[in-house]
Amino acid sequence: MPASEGNLHGRLRAATRPLHAELELAVKIDERIRTRASYIDHLVRLFGLHVSAEIALQALNFTPLGFAYPSPYRSRLLAADLAELGVPPQALRRLSLPPAPRLETIPAGLGCIYVLEGSAKGARAILPEIAAALSLDGEKGATFFNGYGQETKLMWQALLSALNRIEPFSEEGRQAVEAALDTFRMFRRGLAVASDPNG
Ligand code: HEM
Repeated sequence: MPASEGNLHGRLRAATRPLHAELELAVKIDERIRTRASYIDHLVRLFGLHVSAEIALQALNFTPLGFAYPSPYRSRLLAADLAELGVPPQALRRLSLPPAPRLETIPAGLGCIYVLEGSAKGARAILPEIAAALSLDGEKGATFFNGYGQETKLMWQALLSALNRIEPFSEEGRQAVEAALDTFRMFRRGLAVASDPNG
């Protein structure tokens, strides 16, 4: 289902485009995948962000909109990749988690998932670079960037159908957009490199 100006997906995409562009530049993915150590650091940051967002989402029930979000989902792939790279689950349990956006309504939850699942689509574009730089692949060490293949695609389509049942310029639409922007800001804070003075 394509984004159009007339649906909530179109509104979300337009509202978050500047933050996406900013993040894509700031992340400097080539630097993060240059060595195993920098890649592990990046995965650990992503793990904390995803666990925190998934915990916030667990309180919401999307079934009235015909959608189910499995949890833990993206964080499980990150934990598997980190285990492959020698970081055991016990070490991950000790991490302090970044605060998640307040997700008090179903539309807010869907706005947050829009960011998580959209980034899963984008992540697939990075997989070849990771494979080339670190000799890992979508089945070993970089499963997070591979996603669940066909399942990831189906999840995205199911999410868009649920989102597009919401009137884009209604109060509910506003809640979804606010939560998506907050989720982008959460990632911007969480992925900021230590030397970044704006971090
Ligand atoms: C290295 C950094 C990144 C790159 C290279 C990148 C690249 C991409 C690409 C190529 C797409 C289009 C995928 C497709 O339509 O199949 C995309 C979509 C998306 N990305 Fe990113 N991305 C990056 C970081 C992020 C981050 C950190 C987030 C949020 C946490 C994010 C959120 C999204 C969202 C929400 C979409 C879906 C837009 C839509 O179709 O409505 N991206 N990204």
